[in-house]
Amino acid sequence: MKTIGVAIVGCGGITLQNHVPGLALCPDTKVVALCDTDKACLQKASQQTGVKTISTDYKETVSRDDVDAVIIATPNVTHALIAHAAIAAGKHVLCEKPIAMNFREALGMYEAAERAKVRHMSAFTYRFVPAMRYLAHLVKSGALGEPYHYRSCRLQDWGNRPLGWRQVSKLAGTGELGDMLSHRIDFAHSLMGPMRRLVANTKRFIDDRQGTPSDLEDWAAILAEFQNGATGVLESSKVATGRNESWRSQDYVEVNGSQASYVFFTERWNELQVGKPGGLGLEKTIIPEEFWGVPGSPRDPRKGDPLVTFRYDQNFEFIDAIRNERPCVPSFLDGARAQAVMDSAIQSANEKRWVDPPKVG
Ligand SMILES: NC(=O)c1ccc[n+]([C@@H]2O[C@H](COP(=O)([O-])OP(=O)(O)OC[C@H]3O[C@@H](n4cnc5c(N)ncnc54)[C@H](O)[C@@H]3O)[C@@H](O)[C@H]2O)c1
Repeated sequence: MKTIGVAIVGCGGITLQNHVPGLALCPDTKVVALCDTDKACLQKASQQTGVKTISTDYKETVSRDDVDAVIIATPNVTHALIAHAAIAAGKHVLCEKPIAMNFREALGMYEAAERAKVRHMSAFTYRFVPAMRYLAHLVKSGALGEPYHYRSCRLQDWGNRPLGWRQVSKLAGTGELGDMLSHRIDFAHSLMGPMRRLVANTKRFIDDRQGTPSDLEDWAAILAEFQNGATGVLESSKVATGRNESWRSQDYVEVNGSQASYVFFTERWNELQVGKPGGLGLEKTIIPEEFWGVPGSPRDPRKGDPLVTFRYDQNFEFIDAIRNERPCVPSFLDGARAQAVMDSAIQSANEKRWVDPPKVG
Protein backbone atom coordinates (compact mmCIF):
# COMPACT_ATOMS: atom_id res chain seq x y z
CA MET A 1 0.00 0.00 0.00
CA LYS A 2 1.38 3.44 -0.91
CA THR A 3 2.24 5.59 2.09
CA ILE A 4 0.20 8.79 2.24
CA GLY A 5 2.47 11.78 2.87
CA VAL A 6 0.88 14.51 4.98
CA ALA A 7 1.98 18.10 5.50
CA ILE A 8 0.71 20.07 8.48
CA VAL A 9 0.44 23.83 8.14
CA GLY A 10 0.13 25.47 11.57
CA CYS A 11 1.86 23.62 14.41
CA GLY A 12 0.08 25.12 17.42
CA GLY A 13 -2.34 23.73 19.98
CA ILE A 14 -4.70 21.61 17.91
CA THR A 15 -1.95 20.11 15.74
CA LEU A 16 0.01 18.77 18.68
CA GLN A 17 -3.08 17.72 20.61
CA ASN A 18 -5.14 16.07 17.83
CA HIS A 19 -3.53 15.79 14.44
CA VAL A 20 -0.08 14.45 15.27
CA PRO A 21 -1.32 11.59 17.51
CA GLY A 22 -4.31 10.97 15.21
CA LEU A 23 -2.10 10.61 12.12
CA ALA A 24 0.34 8.39 14.04
CA LEU A 25 -2.43 5.79 14.37
CA CYS A 26 -3.30 5.79 10.65
CA PRO A 27 -1.76 2.89 8.74
CA ASP A 28 0.74 3.71 5.97
CA THR A 29 0.56 7.41 6.72
CA LYS A 30 3.51 9.68 7.39
CA VAL A 31 3.83 13.33 8.34
CA VAL A 32 6.50 14.43 5.86
CA ALA A 33 6.54 18.23 6.26
CA LEU A 34 5.66 20.86 8.83
CA CYS A 35 5.02 24.55 8.31
CA ASP A 36 4.55 27.39 10.78
CA THR A 37 5.36 31.08 10.53
CA ASP A 38 6.52 30.99 14.16
CA LYS A 39 10.02 29.48 14.16
CA ALA A 40 9.94 28.48 17.84
CA CYS A 41 6.65 26.67 17.33
CA LEU A 42 8.04 24.96 14.24
CA GLN A 43 11.15 23.78 16.09
CA LYS A 44 9.08 22.42 18.97
CA ALA A 45 6.80 20.49 16.57
CA SER A 46 9.82 19.21 14.63
CA GLN A 47 11.45 17.93 17.82
CA GLN A 48 8.23 16.37 19.05
CA THR A 49 7.48 14.57 15.76
CA GLY A 50 10.94 13.94 14.41
CA VAL A 51 9.87 15.54 11.10
CA LYS A 52 12.93 17.29 9.69
CA THR A 53 11.38 18.95 6.62
CA ILE A 54 10.20 22.28 7.95
CA SER A 55 9.33 25.62 6.43
CA THR A 56 7.81 28.96 7.31
CA ASP A 57 6.29 29.25 3.81
CA TYR A 58 3.08 27.27 3.24
CA LYS A 59 3.41 27.55 -0.56
CA GLU A 60 6.71 25.69 -0.42
CA THR A 61 5.23 23.06 1.90
CA VAL A 62 2.01 22.30 0.03
CA SER A 63 3.74 22.01 -3.36
CA ARG A 64 6.22 19.31 -2.30
CA ASP A 65 6.13 16.11 -4.36
CA ASP A 66 6.13 13.88 -1.27
CA VAL A 67 3.00 15.58 0.07
CA ASP A 68 -0.32 13.94 -0.86
CA ALA A 69 -2.50 15.66 1.73
CA VAL A 70 -2.45 18.87 3.77
CA ILE A 71 -3.87 19.60 7.21
CA ILE A 72 -4.56 23.30 7.80
CA ALA A 73 -4.50 24.26 11.48
CA THR A 74 -3.76 27.98 11.37
CA PRO A 75 -5.81 31.02 12.44
CA ASN A 76 -9.07 31.24 10.46
CA VAL A 77 -8.05 34.18 8.27
CA THR A 78 -5.38 32.06 6.55
CA HIS A 79 -7.48 28.92 5.88
CA ALA A 80 -8.80 29.84 2.41
CA LEU A 81 -5.44 31.04 1.05
CA ILE A 82 -3.64 27.89 2.20
CA ALA A 83 -6.48 25.61 1.05
CA HIS A 84 -6.51 27.13 -2.44
CA ALA A 85 -2.72 26.74 -2.71
CA ALA A 86 -2.94 23.09 -1.62
CA ILE A 87 -5.87 22.35 -3.93
CA ALA A 88 -4.07 24.02 -6.86
CA ALA A 89 -1.13 21.69 -6.15
CA GLY A 90 -3.54 18.72 -6.34
CA LYS A 91 -3.41 17.88 -2.61
CA HIS A 92 -6.26 16.56 -0.43
CA VAL A 93 -7.17 19.00 2.36
CA LEU A 94 -8.41 18.68 5.93
CA CYS A 95 -9.11 22.19 7.21
CA GLU A 96 -9.79 23.24 10.77
CA LYS A 97 -13.12 24.84 11.58
CA PRO A 98 -14.46 27.37 10.90
CA ILE A 99 -13.04 26.61 7.46
CA ALA A 100 -13.22 30.23 6.30
CA MET A 101 -13.98 33.80 7.30
CA ASN A 102 -17.43 33.79 5.65
CA PHE A 103 -19.81 31.72 3.54
CA ARG A 104 -18.57 33.03 0.18
CA GLU A 105 -14.99 32.07 1.03
CA ALA A 106 -16.06 28.62 2.30
CA LEU A 107 -18.11 27.92 -0.82
CA GLY A 108 -15.13 28.92 -2.99
CA MET A 109 -12.98 26.36 -1.17
CA TYR A 110 -15.60 23.65 -1.67
CA GLU A 111 -15.99 24.42 -5.38
CA ALA A 112 -12.23 24.53 -5.99
CA ALA A 113 -11.73 21.18 -4.22
CA GLU A 114 -14.54 19.57 -6.20
CA ARG A 115 -13.16 20.92 -9.49
CA ALA A 116 -9.70 19.58 -8.65
CA LYS A 117 -11.23 16.23 -7.57
CA VAL A 118 -9.33 16.22 -4.28
CA ARG A 119 -10.75 15.03 -0.95
CA HIS A 120 -11.89 17.83 1.35
CA MET A 121 -12.82 17.69 5.01
CA SER A 122 -13.95 20.17 7.70
CA ALA A 123 -12.65 19.45 11.20
CA PHE A 124 -15.95 19.30 13.05
CA THR A 125 -14.27 17.03 15.57
CA TYR A 126 -17.26 16.46 17.82
CA ARG A 127 -18.99 14.41 15.13
CA PHE A 128 -16.63 11.67 16.30
CA VAL A 129 -17.85 11.60 19.92
CA PRO A 130 -19.28 8.05 20.33
CA ALA A 131 -22.52 9.33 21.90
CA MET A 132 -22.99 11.77 19.00
CA ARG A 133 -22.32 9.07 16.42
CA TYR A 134 -24.93 6.85 18.08
CA LEU A 135 -27.41 9.72 18.39
CA ALA A 136 -26.99 10.53 14.68
CA HIS A 137 -27.62 6.85 13.90
CA LEU A 138 -30.80 6.81 16.03
CA VAL A 139 -32.16 9.99 14.46
CA LYS A 140 -31.40 8.78 10.92
CA SER A 141 -33.10 5.45 11.64
CA GLY A 142 -36.28 7.34 12.60
CA ALA A 143 -36.19 6.54 16.34
CA LEU A 144 -37.05 10.15 17.20
CA GLY A 145 -40.37 10.07 15.35
CA GLU A 146 -41.40 13.51 14.17
CA PRO A 147 -38.51 15.84 15.13
CA TYR A 148 -39.64 18.63 17.48
CA HIS A 149 -36.59 20.27 19.07
CA TYR A 150 -32.79 20.47 18.81
CA ARG A 151 -31.10 22.11 21.79
CA SER A 152 -27.45 22.64 22.59
CA CYS A 153 -25.68 24.48 25.36
CA ARG A 154 -21.93 24.97 25.68
CA LEU A 155 -20.87 26.88 28.77
CA GLN A 156 -17.20 27.50 29.53
CA ASP A 157 -15.27 29.88 31.75
CA TRP A 158 -12.28 31.28 29.89
CA GLY A 159 -12.24 34.27 32.22
CA ASN A 160 -10.42 37.32 30.94
CA ARG A 161 -7.27 35.54 29.80
CA PRO A 162 -5.80 36.67 26.46
CA LEU A 163 -7.02 34.56 23.51
CA GLY A 164 -4.45 35.65 20.90
CA TRP A 165 -5.83 35.67 17.35
CA ARG A 166 -9.18 34.31 18.64
CA GLN A 167 -10.12 37.74 20.05
CA VAL A 168 -9.35 39.72 16.85
CA SER A 169 -12.07 39.92 14.20
CA LYS A 170 -9.71 40.37 11.26
CA LEU A 171 -7.92 37.12 12.20
CA ALA A 172 -10.80 34.97 13.47
CA GLY A 173 -13.86 36.37 11.68
CA THR A 174 -16.14 35.59 14.61
CA GLY A 175 -15.62 34.85 18.30
CA GLU A 176 -17.62 32.23 20.20
CA LEU A 177 -19.84 31.72 17.16
CA GLY A 178 -17.08 30.21 15.02
CA ASP A 179 -14.92 28.91 17.85
CA MET A 180 -17.47 26.76 19.66
CA LEU A 181 -20.99 27.20 18.28
CA SER A 182 -19.91 26.19 14.76
CA HIS A 183 -19.48 22.60 16.05
CA ARG A 184 -23.06 22.56 17.31
CA ILE A 185 -24.44 24.23 14.16
CA ASP A 186 -22.82 21.43 12.17
CA PHE A 187 -24.23 18.78 14.49
CA ALA A 188 -27.69 20.36 14.24
CA HIS A 189 -27.41 20.12 10.45
CA SER A 190 -26.35 16.50 10.60
CA LEU A 191 -29.36 15.59 12.80
CA MET A 192 -32.09 17.92 11.58
CA GLY A 193 -30.99 19.09 8.12
CA PRO A 194 -30.82 22.72 7.03
CA MET A 195 -32.25 25.71 8.93
CA ARG A 196 -35.10 27.56 7.23
CA ARG A 197 -34.78 30.74 9.30
CA LEU A 198 -33.07 32.00 12.39
CA VAL A 199 -32.79 34.90 14.76
CA ALA A 200 -29.58 35.38 16.71
CA ASN A 201 -27.74 37.56 19.16
CA THR A 202 -24.10 37.92 20.15
CA LYS A 203 -22.46 39.84 22.97
CA ARG A 204 -18.98 40.71 24.13
CA PHE A 205 -18.60 41.11 27.89
CA ILE A 206 -14.82 41.48 27.97
CA ASP A 207 -13.33 44.24 25.81
CA ASP A 208 -9.88 44.04 27.31
CA ARG A 209 -8.18 40.73 27.96
CA GLN A 210 -5.32 41.57 30.32
CA GLY A 211 -4.17 44.54 28.29
CA THR A 212 -5.05 43.18 24.83
CA PRO A 213 -8.21 44.49 23.13
CA SER A 214 -10.93 42.06 22.04
CA ASP A 215 -13.37 43.03 19.32
CA LEU A 216 -15.28 39.73 19.14
CA GLU A 217 -18.25 38.21 20.95
CA ASP A 218 -17.75 35.86 23.88
CA TRP A 219 -21.39 34.73 23.87
CA ALA A 220 -23.66 33.72 20.98
CA ALA A 221 -27.17 32.28 20.72
CA ILE A 222 -29.40 31.21 17.84
CA LEU A 223 -33.13 30.51 17.80
CA ALA A 224 -33.86 28.50 14.65
CA GLU A 225 -36.54 26.78 12.66
CA PHE A 226 -35.35 23.84 10.53
CA GLN A 227 -36.72 23.01 7.11
CA ASN A 228 -38.14 19.78 8.63
CA GLY A 229 -40.27 21.93 10.98
CA ALA A 230 -38.23 21.30 14.15
CA THR A 231 -37.15 24.20 16.36
CA GLY A 232 -33.58 24.86 17.50
CA VAL A 233 -32.06 26.67 20.47
CA LEU A 234 -28.26 26.91 20.48
CA GLU A 235 -26.23 28.81 23.09
CA SER A 236 -22.50 29.07 23.70
CA SER A 237 -20.47 31.15 26.12
CA LYS A 238 -16.84 31.67 27.10
CA VAL A 239 -17.77 33.67 30.19
CA ALA A 240 -19.94 31.26 32.20
CA THR A 241 -18.03 31.90 35.41
CA GLY A 242 -16.98 28.86 37.41
CA ARG A 243 -17.90 26.39 34.66
CA ASN A 244 -14.25 25.51 33.93
CA GLU A 245 -12.97 24.85 30.40
CA SER A 246 -12.88 22.28 27.66
CA TRP A 247 -14.68 18.96 28.24
CA ARG A 248 -14.79 19.54 31.99
CA SER A 249 -17.43 22.21 31.32
CA GLN A 250 -21.04 22.05 30.20
CA ASP A 251 -21.46 20.59 26.70
CA TYR A 252 -24.98 19.37 26.22
CA VAL A 253 -27.19 18.39 23.29
CA GLU A 254 -30.84 17.34 23.52
CA VAL A 255 -33.26 16.32 20.79
CA ASN A 256 -36.97 15.76 21.31
CA GLY A 257 -39.32 14.07 18.86
CA SER A 258 -42.78 12.50 18.92
CA GLN A 259 -41.33 9.06 19.80
CA ALA A 260 -38.33 9.81 22.01
CA SER A 261 -35.97 12.32 23.59
CA TYR A 262 -32.20 11.89 23.65
CA VAL A 263 -29.75 13.85 25.77
CA PHE A 264 -26.01 13.70 25.98
CA PHE A 265 -23.16 15.44 27.73
CA THR A 266 -19.75 15.21 26.05
CA GLU A 267 -17.99 14.26 29.27
CA ARG A 268 -20.14 11.09 29.34
CA TRP A 269 -18.84 9.97 25.98
CA ASN A 270 -20.40 6.49 25.96
CA GLU A 271 -23.75 7.30 27.49
CA LEU A 272 -27.08 8.73 26.27
CA GLN A 273 -30.12 9.65 28.32
CA VAL A 274 -33.29 8.36 26.67
CA GLY A 275 -36.91 9.27 27.35
CA LYS A 276 -39.89 7.46 25.81
CA PRO A 277 -43.63 8.36 25.79
CA GLY A 278 -45.28 7.23 29.04
CA GLY A 279 -41.91 6.49 30.66
CA LEU A 280 -40.70 7.61 34.07
CA GLY A 281 -38.39 10.23 32.58
CA LEU A 282 -34.87 10.07 31.22
CA GLU A 283 -32.99 6.81 31.65
CA LYS A 284 -29.38 6.00 30.96
CA THR A 285 -28.42 3.86 27.97
CA ILE A 286 -24.88 2.72 27.15
CA ILE A 287 -23.59 3.34 23.64
CA PRO A 288 -23.14 0.03 21.77
CA GLU A 289 -19.45 -0.73 21.24
CA GLU A 290 -19.74 -0.56 17.45
CA PHE A 291 -20.22 3.22 17.87
CA TRP A 292 -17.16 3.74 20.09
CA GLY A 293 -15.05 4.39 16.99
CA VAL A 294 -15.30 4.93 13.25
CA PRO A 295 -15.52 1.60 11.37
CA GLY A 296 -12.02 0.43 10.43
CA SER A 297 -10.27 2.87 12.78
CA PRO A 298 -7.14 1.30 14.31
CA ARG A 299 -7.74 3.23 17.54
CA ASP A 300 -8.47 1.16 20.66
CA PRO A 301 -11.27 3.11 22.41
CA ARG A 302 -10.22 1.56 25.73
CA LYS A 303 -6.78 3.15 25.53
CA GLY A 304 -6.03 6.69 26.67
CA ASP A 305 -8.46 9.37 27.77
CA PRO A 306 -11.66 8.75 25.76
CA LEU A 307 -12.45 12.48 25.86
CA VAL A 308 -9.26 13.11 23.90
CA THR A 309 -8.81 9.99 21.79
CA PHE A 310 -12.17 10.12 19.92
CA ARG A 311 -10.61 13.10 18.10
CA TYR A 312 -8.05 10.82 16.43
CA ASP A 313 -10.83 9.18 14.41
CA GLN A 314 -11.13 12.46 12.49
CA ASN A 315 -7.66 11.90 11.03
CA PHE A 316 -8.53 8.30 10.23
CA GLU A 317 -11.67 9.45 8.38
CA PHE A 318 -9.56 11.82 6.24
CA ILE A 319 -6.90 9.25 5.41
CA ASP A 320 -9.42 6.46 4.83
CA ALA A 321 -11.42 8.67 2.43
CA ILE A 322 -8.24 9.44 0.46
CA ARG A 323 -7.28 5.77 0.38
CA ASN A 324 -10.72 4.64 -0.75
CA GLU A 325 -11.40 7.60 -3.06
CA ARG A 326 -14.66 8.47 -1.33
CA PRO A 327 -16.00 11.77 0.07
CA CYS A 328 -14.92 12.77 3.59
CA VAL A 329 -17.57 13.31 6.25
CA PRO A 330 -17.87 16.13 7.21
CA SER A 331 -16.79 17.81 3.98
CA PHE A 332 -16.10 21.41 2.94
CA LEU A 333 -19.77 21.57 1.96
CA ASP A 334 -20.68 20.92 5.61
CA GLY A 335 -18.17 23.62 6.53
CA ALA A 336 -19.85 26.02 4.09
CA ARG A 337 -23.32 25.13 5.46
CA ALA A 338 -22.20 26.04 8.98
CA GLN A 339 -20.61 29.22 7.66
CA ALA A 340 -23.86 30.22 5.94
CA VAL A 341 -25.64 29.96 9.29
CA MET A 342 -22.87 31.91 11.04
CA ASP A 343 -23.08 34.72 8.46
CA SER A 344 -26.88 34.79 8.88
CA ALA A 345 -26.53 34.85 12.68
CA ILE A 346 -24.24 37.89 12.46
CA GLN A 347 -26.64 39.58 10.04
CA SER A 348 -29.61 38.80 12.31
CA ALA A 349 -27.82 40.19 15.38
CA ASN A 350 -26.77 43.34 13.52
CA GLU A 351 -30.16 43.98 11.92
CA LYS A 352 -32.25 42.69 14.87
CA ARG A 353 -34.48 40.49 12.69
CA TRP A 354 -35.11 36.93 11.42
CA VAL A 355 -32.87 35.87 8.51
CA ASP A 356 -33.21 32.94 6.06
CA PRO A 357 -29.76 31.31 5.65
CA PRO A 358 -28.83 30.72 1.99
CA LYS A 359 -29.65 27.22 0.71
CA VAL A 360 -26.43 25.24 0.29
CA GLY A 361 -25.84 22.16 -1.88
N1 LIG B 1 -11.67 21.08 15.72
C1 LIG B 1 -11.49 21.51 16.96
O1 LIG B 1 -12.04 20.97 17.90
C2 LIG B 1 -10.55 22.67 17.18
C3 LIG B 1 -9.98 22.90 18.43
C4 LIG B 1 -9.05 23.95 18.56
C5 LIG B 1 -8.74 24.75 17.46
N2 LIG B 1 -9.36 24.53 16.26
C6 LIG B 1 -9.08 25.35 15.07
O2 LIG B 1 -7.74 25.09 14.66
C7 LIG B 1 -7.15 26.27 14.13
C8 LIG B 1 -5.86 26.56 14.91
O3 LIG B 1 -6.19 26.69 16.28
P1 LIG B 1 -5.07 26.48 17.43
O4 LIG B 1 -5.79 26.50 18.70
O5 LIG B 1 -4.22 25.33 17.11
O6 LIG B 1 -4.27 27.84 17.25
P2 LIG B 1 -2.76 28.16 17.69
O7 LIG B 1 -2.65 29.63 17.76
O8 LIG B 1 -2.37 27.34 18.86
O9 LIG B 1 -1.89 27.61 16.43
C9 LIG B 1 -1.94 28.20 15.17
C10 LIG B 1 -0.55 28.14 14.56
O10 LIG B 1 -0.62 28.61 13.20
C11 LIG B 1 0.58 29.35 12.95
N3 LIG B 1 0.37 30.22 11.79
C12 LIG B 1 -0.28 31.41 11.72
N4 LIG B 1 -0.31 31.85 10.43
C13 LIG B 1 0.35 30.92 9.68
C14 LIG B 1 0.64 30.80 8.29
N5 LIG B 1 0.25 31.74 7.41
N6 LIG B 1 1.32 29.73 7.86
C15 LIG B 1 1.74 28.78 8.75
N7 LIG B 1 1.48 28.83 10.08
C16 LIG B 1 0.78 29.89 10.54
C17 LIG B 1 0.84 30.09 14.25
O11 LIG B 1 2.19 30.52 14.36
C18 LIG B 1 0.47 29.04 15.29
O12 LIG B 1 1.58 28.26 15.69
C19 LIG B 1 -8.22 27.35 14.22
O13 LIG B 1 -8.93 27.43 13.02
C20 LIG B 1 -9.14 26.84 15.33
O14 LIG B 1 -10.47 27.32 15.23
C21 LIG B 1 -10.25 23.50 16.12
